[in-house]
Amino acid sequence: MVLLILWRLYGYSARLLKTKLFRTAASNISFPEVWLLLVQYFERVPGFFWVVQRNSFFTMSEILENKADIELYSPHPEVRGMTTLDRAAFKRTIVVPILKVKKEVINKLLKSLKHTTLQRPGLKRVIDDPKDEDSRLVLLDPHKISAEYSLGESEQEILKQFSIDPQVSKYNLELTYDNFKTEEVLRAVLPEGQDVTSGFTRIGHIAHLNLRDHQLPYKHLIGQVIIDKNPGITCSVNKINIIDNTYRNFQMEVLAGEANMITKTRENYITYEFDFSKVYWNSRLSTEHGRIIEFLKPGDVLFDVFAGVGPFAIPAAKKKCSVFANDLNPESYKWLLHNCKLNKVDKKIKNFNMDGRDFLRGPVKEELTKELSLLTKERKNTLHIVMNLPALAIEFLDVFKHFLDGKPCSTDLLPTVHCYSFSKHDNPAKDVQERAEAFLGTSLEGRCSTHLVRNVAPNKEMMCISFQIPAEVLFKNPMEPASKRLRPNEDSPEEKSTSLKD
Ligand SMILES: C[S@@+](CC[C@H](N)C(=O)[O-])C[C@H]1O[C@@H](n2cnc3c(N)ncnc32)[C@H](O)[C@@H]1O
Repeated sequence: MVLLILWRLYGYSARLLKTKLFRTAASNISFPEVWLLLVQYFERVPGFFWVVQRNSFFTMSEILENKADIELYSPHPEVRGMTTLDRAAFKRTIVVPILKVKKEVINKLLKSLKHTTLQRPGLKRVIDDPKDEDSRLVLLDPHKISAEYSLGESEQEILKQFSIDPQVSKYNLELTYDNFKTEEVLRAVLPEGQDVTSGFTRIGHIAHLNLRDHQLPYKHLIGQVIIDKNPGITCSVNKINIIDNTYRNFQMEVLAGEANMITKTRENYITYEFDFSKVYWNSRLSTEHGRIIEFLKPGDVLFDVFAGVGPFAIPAAKKKCSVFANDLNPESYKWLLHNCKLNKVDKKIKNFNMDGRDFLRGPVKEELTKELSLLTKERKNTLHIVMNLPALAIEFLDVFKHFLDGKPCSTDLLPTVHCYSFSKHDNPAKDVQERAEAFLGTSLEGRCSTHLVRNVAPNKEMMCISFQIPAEVLFKNPMEPASKRLRPNEDSPEEKSTSLKD
């Protein structure tokens, strides 16, 4: 009896929907819209409301025409405001269309009807037919079915080919927590109308979230949902301060899962292991790391002043470059050594744990002097200095003023610096160039390139400025051919003319 009334109401609602309430121009109203309208109707009829509730159908008073899609796959409304995850509370029954199909043709049919079958996480779209063991029931997507509960022409054509009766029936499908997507779960829990962005960065088994203030009351639940819905993630953390400390790592709070911060991740085919809570790591820099490595060829020398756990140094060593890597943070240094061993490049990299200025004035100067003391024709390799500490690195550039003065050096093939900086300026390239020039005490006009690495925040860019250090910066008196000073007996006409080349 109840079913009969339901069916009549369904037909009535379909007509109503087409003509009055939603003033839709669509001629084929989909089943979910009709069903939702029906449920709304029940809400106003106390007797039916009880029946509906008992079957876990929920009433939705704020259904909007174009929200039918979201609403159909919404978990039970009682989860709104939940702060401790109760997976069982998400259960909800919806009505979906089904098609009875002989089991011999099921695989072929599924291929042809793949856009019409129901696709939900963790849900089988083919189930046994309790009344006929030779048949199966195929769950269909309610959005692909018309209000008259029939399939479209092309689908009907496919069914004809397989001699399948095109009659579509209804099936009460119970959706559980496992069948909802992260966004659907969070949209149902968080206050209505608020942003539920569930993005995170993955570092091995750790999901790193950056929650907004309005999401904080739900932080543990959000962290658990991310773990549940992403295989391989067993821990979720939220950043609790901005990166403004010396070692550029940030304090974090474990939201859910095991509090194991030692993680292993891969970047550009290289494995890195480190304690994520104690060192700097940013997966968004992988392209930039790769870009710099592209400049290098075997035999080149790379000096990495702020090396972290090695994402420039290790790939450079893998490319058969000589590498000098440094980081002030003892933890970064420890994991840098570890990663050198892990990637079998510990013989190719000399590691240091000192302040960047001391590193430049000590090991870098010593090696540069050695390299530049060779005549250009003997030395084909290039020298690169990477300085990735965007908040401060530019201020370290003054170290290069008269850096090699008094040293017997060639002014050919001088080192190229790749220095990173943040900029909030309207013209970040110009801003970074001007600041670099101020610290170097010379103009870089026409002899530098700037690259936008990434947008860090609204109106804040991370830039990389690359330039060969001008001879007039490195040497007080660059006019004097360095090779002459070095090897007076080997003077050649070309070497005598070596001057301001940078
Ligand atoms: C932004 S991270 C870059 C790490 C790595 N190069 C990368 O691309 O992922 C900057 C690194 O500089 C280190 N650092 C900060 N101040 C330093 C200093 N004065 N001297 C040397 N290293 C420093 C930090 O410990 C951190 O590992």
